[in-house]
Amino acid sequence: SISGRINVAIDGPAGAGKSTVARKVAEQLGYIYIDTGAMYRAVAYAAIGAGITPDDSDRLGQLVQTLNITLEPGGAGQTVWLNGENITSAIRTREVTLIVSQIASHEAIRQRLVELQRGLAESKGIVMDGRDIGTHVLPDAEVKVFLMASVQVRALRRFRELSGNEAVPLQQLEREIAERDRSDERREISPLICAKDAEVIDSTELTIDQVVALILDLCRTKTVEA
Ligand code: DC
Repeated sequence: SISGRINVAIDGPAGAGKSTVARKVAEQLGYIYIDTGAMYRAVAYAAIGAGITPDDSDRLGQLVQTLNITLEPGGAGQTVWLNGENITSAIRTREVTLIVSQIASHEAIRQRLVELQRGLAESKGIVMDGRDIGTHVLPDAEVKVFLMASVQVRALRRFRELSGNEAVPLQQLEREIAERDRSDERREISPLICAKDAEVIDSTELTIDQVVALILDLCRTKTVEA
């Protein structure tokens, strides 16, 4: 077991298994899991509802100020609320997924969400996953992990997740994942990059439980040092 609360940052590309792994690590440590991707998805969902296109910086900047996004941890996973509306499943549609990377490229949106994320992490004892957690949101996190996997494996995992009515050919998923990687890596503000002090874990040939065990080991080392 672990004494002393730490923060754990888990970054990496789409489909590397971050959210499943982060949720399990949090569960094992008795920590709170925070899925920052869900926050960007909430803004994308709100933009669609408000009829704002993902390139409209000005209106998106105004929109984000009006949004009350809350993440409620729970046994069956996290519930995402937007201004009192439960949007947990609505943010996982392809419609949202296809625009969220562009939504996440706007400075006003990132500033607002990063502020919220830092607030949530203040009391420590959190596991936060995203793209810029170790590099920008929580540069002092005691444990930083960069979780990756091959594009093929990530597309296959997503393929198996999609339900019948959303069935998409595997090759199309590979193209979309590669495209989202490129746009997350190339954006000007807080691009997806590995923090210098992050531990890189390639999950291509690892099970979820193996990845979780590796991260728990890192957490134990850190709390012994501290
Ligand atoms: O992890 P996800 O697929 O739910 O993330 C959705 C999008 O949000 C993804 O395209 C990258 C972006 N994102 C980000 O820019 N910064 C974060 N901290 C988390 C997600």
